[in-house]
Amino acid sequence: MSHRIQFTTPGGPEVLQWVEADLPDPGPGEVRLRHTAIGVNYIDVYHRSGAYPVPLPAVPGFEAAGVVEALGPGVTDLEVGQRVAYVDGPTGAYSEARNHPADRLVPLPAGLPDEAAAALLFKGLTAHMLVRRVWRAGAEPWVLVHAAAGGVGLILTRWLAREGAKVIGLVSSPGKARMAETEGAVATLVVPRSAAYDGVAAEVRRITGGRGVGTVFDSVGRDTFEASLDSLAPFGLLASFGRSSGPLPLVDPADLAKRGSLGVQRPSIFHHIADPATLRAAAAEVFAAQAQGIIRAHIHGTLPLREAPQAHALLESRATRGALVLLP
Ligand SMILES: NC(=O)c1ccc[n+]([C@@H]2O[C@H](COP(=O)([O-])OP(=O)(O)OC[C@H]3O[C@@H](n4cnc5c(N)ncnc54)[C@H](OP(=O)(O)O)[C@@H]3O)[C@@H](O)[C@H]2O)c1
Repeated sequence: MSHRIQFTTPGGPEVLQWVEADLPDPGPGEVRLRHTAIGVNYIDVYHRSGAYPVPLPAVPGFEAAGVVEALGPGVTDLEVGQRVAYVDGPTGAYSEARNHPADRLVPLPAGLPDEAAAALLFKGLTAHMLVRRVWRAGAEPWVLVHAAAGGVGLILTRWLAREGAKVIGLVSSPGKARMAETEGAVATLVVPRSAAYDGVAAEVRRITGGRGVGTVFDSVGRDTFEASLDSLAPFGLLASFGRSSGPLPLVDPADLAKRGSLGVQRPSIFHHIADPATLRAAAAEVFAAQAQGIIRAHIHGTLPLREAPQAHALLESRATRGALVLLP
């Protein structure tokens, strides 16, 4: 018997229930993991709320670090007792223990604590995708990063800055602005929670000498969409990689032409790491970047796993800076 967080109907944080469940032996190609630290990601909120429907009942969570407890038939490249982490589905990370496909596991470096791994891997791989595959590095030095003090935002800001980008970080409070600046943002814009984003594009143009930015990294979605497009230089790219404020409107290509031959991309980490070899290579690059100080894990706080509802409420209320980690 082990415990996990489960929901049987979509809804607010209160639908998350602490339940006891049997865990079968790992099947072919799987291992049984004893979790040690579980990463909380905004996608867990989309699953719980029904924004991204999942089969019910569901155990949320795409990210955890843990120890291999048992090997299923056919698993030869992992050992019992080995420290590993993962960042994708099927959902089920909000659990004390689970079975998971062996080829989706990443061995953890000796110097990286489990809590740091759970704060770093999903968000670091997202930043890796955005820096390596999405950012048009040569186009314009200026970029705009929304939610720059969030879990992904702090890592992305620091990585872009280290790669030579001039980052404008958009956040909702002066404290968050200071954090983004510490990670390398050369300018910050503060739009408080209750305020509209109307003035953002004008501020971006003032900072960039009238031109606008080459790339906007927008994880906020509905509320920031117009401001993001208006902040772009000609031929600029809106990298829309999340929707924490709600879904985006439909995009009319003719409108993008009129606004300055703009591009819109919707990158997903799950395409970035679909192939197991690419997953391990990208994870190795994230771990190396962490070891060299190019990026770092930011843990806003840890909570016991059974307090997952509080973790979701905190994340949705925009109170967090960096990552939340659940401890089984
Ligand atoms: N495409 C992908 O593959 C991929 C992978 C990972 C994450 N993501 C996306 O990246 C985003 C960041 O994820 P995360 O886990 O690191 O979360 P997070 O950024 O730590 O939390 C969300 C932040 O978004 C900002 N925000 C603005 N309007 C909001 C609203 N109406 N409701 C909630 N938050 C709002 C808040 O920052 P301020 O208070 O500073 O505004 C808040 O702290 C999410 O949208 C997630 O879906 C996408």
